[in-house]
Amino acid sequence: MSNFVKIKNKIKTFNKRLLIDGDKSLSIRWALLSSQSLKKSKASNLLLSEDVISALNCLKKLGVKIKISKNFCEINGLGLNGFKYKNNLILNAGNSGTLSRLILGLLVHSKKKIKLKGDRSLSKRDFLRVIKPLEKFGARFDSNHGKLPIKIQGTNYTKPIRYFEKKGSAQCKSAVMFAALNTLGETIIKAKKSRDHSELLFKHLKLPIKIIKRDKFDFIKIIGKQNIPALNYKIPSDISSAAFFIVLTALNKNSILKIKNVNINPSRMGVFYILKLMGIKISRLNIKNYKGEQIADLIIKSTNKIKPINCPTKFNTSAIDEFLLIFLVAAKAKGVSYFKNLSELNQKESPRLKWGSKILNKIGVKNIVTKNSIKIFGNPNLKINKKIIIKDFLKDHRVFMTSVIAALSFGGEWQIFDKDSINTSFPSFLKKVGYLGAKID
Ligand code: S3P
Repeated sequence: MSNFVKIKNKIKTFNKRLLIDGDKSLSIRWALLSSQSLKKSKASNLLLSEDVISALNCLKKLGVKIKISKNFCEINGLGLNGFKYKNNLILNAGNSGTLSRLILGLLVHSKKKIKLKGDRSLSKRDFLRVIKPLEKFGARFDSNHGKLPIKIQGTNYTKPIRYFEKKGSAQCKSAVMFAALNTLGETIIKAKKSRDHSELLFKHLKLPIKIIKRDKFDFIKIIGKQNIPALNYKIPSDISSAAFFIVLTALNKNSILKIKNVNINPSRMGVFYILKLMGIKISRLNIKNYKGEQIADLIIKSTNKIKPINCPTKFNTSAIDEFLLIFLVAAKAKGVSYFKNLSELNQKESPRLKWGSKILNKIGVKNIVTKNSIKIFGNPNLKINKKIIIKDFLKDHRVFMTSVIAALSFGGEWQIFDKDSINTSFPSFLKKVGYLGAKID
């Protein structure tokens, strides 16, 4: 079967309701944390995408018993320091930055050497950011110049550490939090603000964690070696997946979309606030609290008046996975938008700041990109009448899906390769676009 899609028509007006797949960050954290309990944990609406399946497969290789039926999942955890595995174990994290970094945190006490590898995209990404703090716990690493494949040799005598996380990386912060779980004594983290799902899960499980929130940093103190209770969880929908449909609706004509049960954790809501500043009509309804997370329905309406933005950098971390989409919105704004301090965007599954600029060039939108910023000269009358091919993007799921949204919003004749990449985070993406009326070959 061909691994590309062809799109020749813009999407027509729609007025629909949609349910989005489960949150990827929470699905991976649920699986990893459940493995550390001695009890049986259950999840419903678990995202069964390749990143999460890689997490389940790694845990199975570490001796954890897992049952899956549809999107229900049961994990019989092995408790702290309980993994059982043979010599020369190789774990494959596939495409997942979150899995690969967080699982290293759980392996700081591994008795035998374990090799961690990943796909071509993951093998280009930086792991020194987790190796350095995890070495302080006492684990030893052998890496390919700070990249995968990595060998980790843990220690029985992990020491609590003090760690200053400066990048705003929830993956680094969480890797250290996971390592702290299995370490006697108090680990203290000072972390630039980033998504706080791990903190909320630790609090929900009543683990000894203290969090002091300051303006730019959080101080997190964790006392390790406590029994971890069962973690039963209904995973809410992923705002990062919902974002594709938010932008599709916003850029379309006279359309309305209601998306149910989305996780609106404030540390993930940058996209919401940025789009609102740009004049997008989006609101939250039925806000509920679920085990520390906030869930709501989102209503989005089309608009033809998009304002440019000088994007406040305070939203960078909380919108980090949505910038490709935000750039599309800026492409249709009346004026020049500016996004800065975004070097972390080039550290993702593909260099996304560069890819944002490439997509804009292909659709004829002037932009000036540097190592960490982009200026976008929007065009409210943007229409495309040419052929556009998108390929060689390291199978980055978000580049593929953003290109589909651009094709359906601006027209032109598109051929977009590596459609399988949607399986990384959002397997039902193309079905959902079809449900809204898109014609895709
Ligand atoms: C994630 C954190 C972010 C984000 C990624 C998921 C997580 O990465 O981009 O998609 O689940 O912790 P960084 O922590 O590297 O910024």
